[in-house]
Amino acid sequence: MNAKPIVITGSGGMLGSDLALYLSEKELVLPFKHSDLDITNPDMVRRMLEKIRPAVLINAAAYTNVDGAERERDKALLLNVEGPEILAELCAVYGTKLVHFSTDYVFNGQSTRPWEETDTPCPPQPNYYAETKLAGEVAVQTIANHLILRVQWLFGEKKDRFTILKGKESFTPFRDQFGAPQWTREIARIIHELLKRDARGLFHFAYDDYASWAEVYEFVKEELALPVKLSPVQSEDVLLPAKRPTFGVLSNKKLLSFLGWKKMGSWKDPLREFLILKTQTALSKRESTQPLPVSQFQ
Ligand SMILES: NC(=O)c1ccc[n+]([C@@H]2O[C@H](COP(=O)([O-])OP(=O)(O)OC[C@H]3O[C@@H](n4cnc5c(N)ncnc54)[C@H](OP(=O)(O)O)[C@@H]3O)[C@@H](O)[C@H]2O)c1
Repeated sequence: MNAKPIVITGSGGMLGSDLALYLSEKELVLPFKHSDLDITNPDMVRRMLEKIRPAVLINAAAYTNVDGAERERDKALLLNVEGPEILAELCAVYGTKLVHFSTDYVFNGQSTRPWEETDTPCPPQPNYYAETKLAGEVAVQTIANHLILRVQWLFGEKKDRFTILKGKESFTPFRDQFGAPQWTREIARIIHELLKRDARGLFHFAYDDYASWAEVYEFVKEELALPVKLSPVQSEDVLLPAKRPTFGVLSNKKLLSFLGWKKMGSWKDPLREFLILKTQTALSKRESTQPLPVSQFQ
């Protein structure tokens, strides 16, 4: 696709590592872990861009501890807003396309239809993580050549939400939070499709169907034939520092139309594939094909 490389920041994270793994099979990719490149250090970012001159920088670095953000506000602000500000400013200077990720949490969940890109964001209160992610979007939008993909309920090899069910006698998923689990490998595939078409602007990633967390865990329980007893709860029954949206379902209309696809499929298919791969430990074998990490950039 590009003769110039694609840089990935935060490549040690859940999404970053799958982006690096997937894209490096198709493109020239330079993945930077936090220890290689700090996105909140403008000098480091500038030196990297000056030397590499990438066509695209995909930022997978973020502060993602949703409840932690209520007490670590400075950290969340630094990483989710100031980091993207630095990346946007410098990517504009070096003519690099900036790809960034945001979340369904920019919406408060008070809707009866899937959220569209044109809907006005309204983060739940309190949810400082969501506020910083929204401000990060605004920062990225200052550079004309940007792509923002809002995703939700990510799972992947690095942070597997589901094998925790194994060995548990009981589990209490939320019955009133709706969305869909999304495999980070799928997000990498979609990003590649969007990059091939030079997509710009804001897109939502979503499947054609959705479910509650309770239904998702019921599906996992059945797929893995686990004896765990699921006892669904209401969000209000569990006191968490940050409020989650109840209806976080995203619309995929714009994405499908842009890609020229008729459907995205069901969230169940990639999740089933992930569970099978996990069971067969095939994923851990894939690790061996992971691209070599870039040595500390000076
Ligand atoms: N997880 C979800 O369910 C979810 C849902 C919606 C949207 N998203 C969005 O998707 C994106 C990826 O999320 P994720 O779950 O993959 O995150 P993650 O697993 O928490 O990874 C974040 C990565 O950022 C790195 N990092 C931290 N500070 C950094 C810095 N100053 N410079 C460079 N890298 C730094 C971290 O490295 P260290 O750990 O070494 O510090 C970590 O590898 C984020 O934008 C997130 O907001 C995630």
